[in-house]
Amino acid sequence: MAYEIRTYGDPVLKTPAQAVTDIDGKVARLVDDMFETLFTSDSGIGLAAPQVGVQKQVFVWEINDEPMVIINPEIVESSGEWLYDEGCLSIPGLYVEMLRPNEVLMRGRTLDGNEIEIEANELMGRLFQHEIDHLHGVLMFDRMTPEQRKEALTEYRKILDEQAKAKPRRLRLK
Ligand code: NI
Repeated sequence: MAYEIRTYGDPVLKTPAQAVTDIDGKVARLVDDMFETLFTSDSGIGLAAPQVGVQKQVFVWEINDEPMVIINPEIVESSGEWLYDEGCLSIPGLYVEMLRPNEVLMRGRTLDGNEIEIEANELMGRLFQHEIDHLHGVLMFDRMTPEQRKEALTEYRKILDEQAKAKPRRLRLK
């Protein structure tokens, strides 16, 4: 079943996630439900467990029709720099150009419990850094300079206002 995606302001997004000690059926179900949530989202390519309210170090992603999951991930090496218009399902509608390392080496575990290392750059490298930030309770706003943050928050409030206006009114029967 798809989860509701938590958005900026929800304290769960500011709380560091716990490492997974037992990769059991519960984790497998969580991953299934996270994929369903990601696939039914507007434009997401990655989703971290805290974004669905679960404090576990798990994230899923899909680039080029290849659904992938990693458990207890960490960035073990990074290099270079890349500017990219970053977005987040928990801050819907906002895109901010951010500078981060370009190439990263991520280490973690697969759903089978095997250790895995993945090297990535550009979009996938950015996704890994962004999702691992979520597992540490870090959001895009926390990566911005104070001036950038002020501007981004103002823009995000405008986006929220517009979204609220665009939402059709529903008649409540109970
Ligand atoms: Ni995000």
